[in-house]
This record gives sequence, structure tokens and C-alpha cells, in this order.
Amino acid sequence: MAHSIAPSLLAADFGKLNEAISEVNKSSASLLHLDVMDGQFVPNISFGIPVIEAVAKVSTKPLDIHLMIVDPDRYLSTYAAFKPEYLTIHLEASTHLHRSIHRVKELGCKAGVAINPHTNIELLKDTIKDIDLVCVMSVNPGFGGQSFIENTYDKVIALKKLIMENNSNTLIEIDGGVTKNNAEKLNRCGADILVAGSSVFRAPSIVEAITALHG
Ligand code: DX5
Ligand code: ZN
Repeated sequence: MAHSIAPSLLAADFGKLNEAISEVNKSSASLLHLDVMDGQFVPNISFGIPVIEAVAKVSTKPLDIHLMIVDPDRYLSTYAAFKPEYLTIHLEASTHLHRSIHRVKELGCKAGVAINPHTNIELLKDTIKDIDLVCVMSVNPGFGGQSFIENTYDKVIALKKLIMENNSNTLIEIDGGVTKNNAEKLNRCGADILVAGSSVFRAPSIVEAITALHG
């Protein structure tokens, strides 16, 4: 199956957010990826509630909210109120992952779980059937524009196997360092959704850069 593209707004020009979002609206992207960083779980602070409120009003693409925050349970209902398609929390930031996944679903969103590059996919074994989307971090979270970690390919193959063995419908999303040079290989390994920040918003044409990622 061909992969979908989720442009990450983190790499956009924040002085021209409206223009960036309207380009994404015109494109073949399936989702708009929004990175929330708290300066604790990751070393960077990005944007949060008021910015997403404004973005939600102009985006015609469903939102894909990636929470890189400690103790995400505190904010699940706040971000679910923006009615994202996916609300993703980090496995490493969750004490009671199973409970949090089900809370996201009760709030009306599909539940995403993100894993850092050092996190073994075996840790997802007991919850995989409950998870709608696994976001495999292919860089250490916190910043856009980093280089893709090559070990991700093997991780995606192993995760796909885990999903199939459990007869689950979980989708695989890849986040970090995605470009038109690795998109096709990621698709072959089993990725369903590719998040791309710099390779989309730093390109001369946002719409064309998104098209190019489909391969
Ligand atoms: C990194 C974020 C990513 C980031 C991707 O912590 O989760 O979504 O915006 O940016 P690029 O595509 O530039 O690596
Ligand atoms: Zn992200």
C-alpha cells in the first residue's frame, strides 16, 4: 500500500503560518503533523494550545498531534478538544500506557504511541492491538532538520512483523529526517505514514515537495 504524507509544521516559517497551512491544504498530504514540546521530555519548546487552536481553524487536513511532553495524561482532554485524527503520546513519558491509550480513545481520537530511537519495539507487544498508530522516531525527538537514523529500517520491519503476528490494524508512522531519498525504502519496509518537516517546508514548493515524497 502506498504511504501517506504528514507534513510537520515545526519546520514552517512561523511568521507565515497561514500561508504554509493553505499550501498543505492544497496538497496531497493526508494529515497535518503538529509537534508539541515542553522543554522537559525534550530539550526544546515548540508551540502549544493557542497555536493549535488557530491552526485547527484553518487546516482542512485532519490533525496529527504528537505530544513530546512529560506526564501526557494531564493534557489529553485539552488536545483531544481540537478533534485530531491521531493523538500521540510517548511510551517513555507514560507510566500507565494502557490506561492512557484507552483514555485517548474515550476522548474520541485514534491513539498513537511514539517510541524513541533507543526504545525496543518488544515493549509494545502487550498493547499493540490497542494502538492505532505507532510513531517510530527516526531521530531523537526535539528538533527538526536532523539526520535520519539508518537502524530505523530494521525497526520498521520488526514492528510490521509484530503487528501482523498480532492480527492488528496498527499503522506505522516514521518521524524525523524523512526525505524523497528514503521515502520509498521506508514504504517497502512497511511504513504507512511519513512525517516530513524540513524536506517539505524548506523546499521551493511545499505542494511539489509533498508530491515528491509519494515516490
Ligand atoms: C522531531 C519532530 C518531528 C520533526 C521532523 O522531534 O517530532 O516531527 O518536526 O522534522 P524533520 O522532517 O525536519 O526531521
Ligand atoms: Zn513529530
